[in-house]
Amino acid sequence: MYDLQGETVRFDVPHNRLLLLDQTRLPGETVVLALHGLEEMVEAIRALRVRGAPAIGVAAAVGLAVRANESEETDVPAFCEAVRRDAAVLRAARPTAVNLAWALGEMERVLSAGAKRVPDLQRKLTERALELHAADVEICRKIGENGLPLLKNCRAVLTHCNAGRLAAVRYGTALAPVYAAKERGQRLAVYADETRPLLQGARLTAYELHEAGVPVTVLCDNAAAYVLSKGLVQAVLVGADRIAANGDTANKVGTGGLAVLARHYGVPFYVCAPRSTFDFACPCGEGIPIEQRDAREVGSLWFREPLLPEGVGVLNPAFDVTKADLITAFVTEKGVFAPDELSALR
Ligand code: MRU
Repeated sequence: MYDLQGETVRFDVPHNRLLLLDQTRLPGETVVLALHGLEEMVEAIRALRVRGAPAIGVAAAVGLAVRANESEETDVPAFCEAVRRDAAVLRAARPTAVNLAWALGEMERVLSAGAKRVPDLQRKLTERALELHAADVEICRKIGENGLPLLKNCRAVLTHCNAGRLAAVRYGTALAPVYAAKERGQRLAVYADETRPLLQGARLTAYELHEAGVPVTVLCDNAAAYVLSKGLVQAVLVGADRIAANGDTANKVGTGGLAVLARHYGVPFYVCAPRSTFDFACPCGEGIPIEQRDAREVGSLWFREPLLPEGVGVLNPAFDVTKADLITAFVTEKGVFAPDELSALR
């Protein structure tokens, strides 16, 4: 078994391969994948073997470097063209999380900066992928530090989907303040929405928090109003896949409804995300592309037992948009911002 050293994604430079924890096998099995080929990388992203906005960005950057290192091309323009083609294929794997396009854009900047020889470009692409990997750890740690003061008087928080360490390289975004609280000995419990249809809350958030010794309780998504109305949580923490210039935020489907409920019950609603999740070129939520996924995710139990009568239609948007005015604040590595303060992040 390959050693991920507690991380979700790693670049095995000596063997030139992308290492991933296969999240579709959790919580039952710990399987690490070692990938070289473009098709298997795209499949891993599409099938959510690696998932969560920051994690797919880093995985794609490492994957692109692996592909570039395998190239036997000696002509610099032809090499750059081939790497850009691979980047376009990876970018198309999932449309909503802007971190994927952002990380690949960072890699393409290496090509634009140029070099005389292909081996120089290969070395620089490897270095950039390693930098993006290391930066993700540091950025998430800072999100945790910046979010912690907001939870000073909290006994428990509610979260949706998985925006924890499995959704990034380490720490995660929405769960980073929870880990920071744990490190400081603050007792903070987490209520986790199970997150239909792919159960990222039940399978992944519960798994990673339980493993870390954080008290976690799973609820059906439709029990969120119960939890909020009973005052069981003092804040809601979620991650994000893309945040438009006006603060409208795409995150796992169900987040928008949760934000409406949180407003109704007067519970603060925090979005935790790195700067790379902000898409200032997108003015508002209507411009965010929403991934539509396979009907079988909704129409069957884990692709096995059918749930629906044959011929019944299914709607399966993977994300929804929470309006900025329902968000109390954005917790980033640069600080905490109210929705009307986001221009400072530009
Ligand atoms: O479809 P997924 O599992 O990739 O969706 C993940 C989410 O919606 C997360 O909340 C988001 O990517 C932020 S992860 C730090």
